[in-house]
Amino acid sequence: MFSYLLIFVILVSTTFSDFETDLQRIKEEYTCYPNCTFNYTEINSETAKLFPSSCYSICGLITINENTDVSFATLEKLFHRMYTLKGGLRIENTTLRSFSFLQLHGFLSFFCFPFGTRIVNNTELVDAEALENIVHVSNTSHECKMEILDNSKLDASRLCESQFHNSVQNIEVLDNGKDCGCSSGKITPRNLPDFKNCIVLFDGLVLTNMSYNSNLKSLSKIANIRGNVEIAYTNFKDLSFLKSLSKIRGNTFENLETVILDIHDNPKMKRLGLDSVSVDTLEQDWVPTMNLENLHPDFCITYQEAVSLSYVRFKNLEAKFCETEWKTDMKSCKFKSLRELESDCIIIYGNVLISSGDEEYVEKLEDTVYIFGSLTIQNSELENIRFLKMLGWIYFLHETLPVIHITNNKDLKKVSLPSIVY
Ligand SMILES: *[C@@H]1O[C@H](CO)[C@@H](O)[C@H](O)[C@H]1NC(C)=O
Ligand SMILES: *[C@@H]1O[C@H](CO)[C@@H](O)[C@H](O)[C@H]1NC(C)=O
Ligand SMILES: *[C@@H]1O[C@H](CO)[C@@H](O)[C@H](O)[C@H]1NC(C)=O
Ligand SMILES: *[C@@H]1O[C@H](CO)[C@@H](O)[C@H](O)[C@H]1NC(C)=O
Ligand SMILES: *[C@@H]1O[C@H](CO)[C@@H](O)[C@H](O)[C@H]1NC(C)=O
Ligand SMILES: *[C@@H]1O[C@H](CO)[C@@H](O)[C@H](O)[C@H]1NC(C)=O
Repeated sequence: MFSYLLIFVILVSTTFSDFETDLQRIKEEYTCYPNCTFNYTEINSETAKLFPSSCYSICGLITINENTDVSFATLEKLFHRMYTLKGGLRIENTTLRSFSFLQLHGFLSFFCFPFGTRIVNNTELVDAEALENIVHVSNTSHECKMEILDNSKLDASRLCESQFHNSVQNIEVLDNGKDCGCSSGKITPRNLPDFKNCIVLFDGLVLTNMSYNSNLKSLSKIANIRGNVEIAYTNFKDLSFLKSLSKIRGNTFENLETVILDIHDNPKMKRLGLDSVSVDTLEQDWVPTMNLENLHPDFCITYQEAVSLSYVRFKNLEAKFCETEWKTDMKSCKFKSLRELESDCIIIYGNVLISSGDEEYVEKLEDTVYIFGSLTIQNSELENIRFLKMLGWIYFLHETLPVIHITNNKDLKKVSLPSIVY
């Protein structure tokens, strides 16, 4: 009898203290008024009386579950003022048909760190519109998780197209009436057609040892890939079949060397064909690594691609620039010599060389923000390089040669590029 009692006491106190710890994390992260913090593990007819329903901004790990014995009208009353929720949201095992009580004002700002959202096993849930109108505010260094699982009547197909498909990357929408993302699993020429409605792809994308075939067009709706991408041992000429792809968020598995976008051994590939794709990692402060290796000898990337990939680190960068110009309204010029260069060029294509005799023309570079090529300053009588005050970006596709080369300028004292973005 005594031992039973002891076990019981321990069990109760650990679950209780888990919740206390969770709540404490929320209180540490946010400014929470005690009178606007919901202190209880779930909403039921008892705790509902203590719900801070007069507050606009509420802190807590709000849980609505099988024990929530209050009416829909009561839920509407509890949440009628709430504009902002900080902490976490769990709605599980209920028979609610709709969550409209969560955003009576049209939308809800949800500071989802640290607990995110879990919407699981709500057997009668049909109305997911409320979820589309939750504006997730993520912690920049920690991404919220959103799980929408096992809601048998829920058609979640529109969810991946709503705003949170951009603001919450770490989402799982599975085993509902209809899901939105797709799990990539093993993609083969045969199962490609199964992916034709996928907008979000989980678990990365691997296309290896594959020949081009028209079914690859089934991947044309994919906008967002969570996980790493490898495209290798194919005869693809480019990746333009991934026509909607705008974001790859990979996983480094805590290893900086992990290649997020790995494109290698595609001997026919001359172009990337991904004009505005961005690559980043789940660990948002990490620099993503990309690999371009063993492609066609003429393989080139467009200026546009270089700009959208400017934060990427390359394991191999076997590429040159394509000769097609960047579609932009900014004034762009080809560099032959500084003497011949027009003034006010914001973008310069070509290796910029400033040498003896060019000193009188350096003011032409005062508006330059982008250089696609290297920058060399040599044998000049320049005393400073203040004229490069706007220069923000130098894109130079060479692995061993230096990007910036400053030599033998006997009067040059101070060198700084105040606008350069690292
Ligand atoms: C929550 O708990 C804190 C400290 O235990 C208390 O000060 C606060 O009044 C409680 N809030 C509500 C809404 O009951
Ligand atoms: C909660 O407490 C704060 C600070 O004491 C006060 O300014 C605020 O009006 C209170 N909010 C509500 C809804 O009672
Ligand atoms: C929902 O039910 C499952 C199975 O009984 C349980 O494990 C889970 O904790 C419940 N969820 C909540 C939030 O109470
Ligand atoms: C789903 O919720 C029902 C009703 O609360 C519960 O009986 C059941 O165990 C839950 N199923 C799962 C898989 O959690
Ligand atoms: C963000 O998340 C980390 C945990 O990954 C946490 O330590 C930190 O307090 C959070 N808040 C901010 C503002 O970064
Ligand atoms: C693809 O082909 C390469 C080279 O022939 C081989 O090394 C690799 O193991 C193959 N990969 C798969 C997944 O079949």
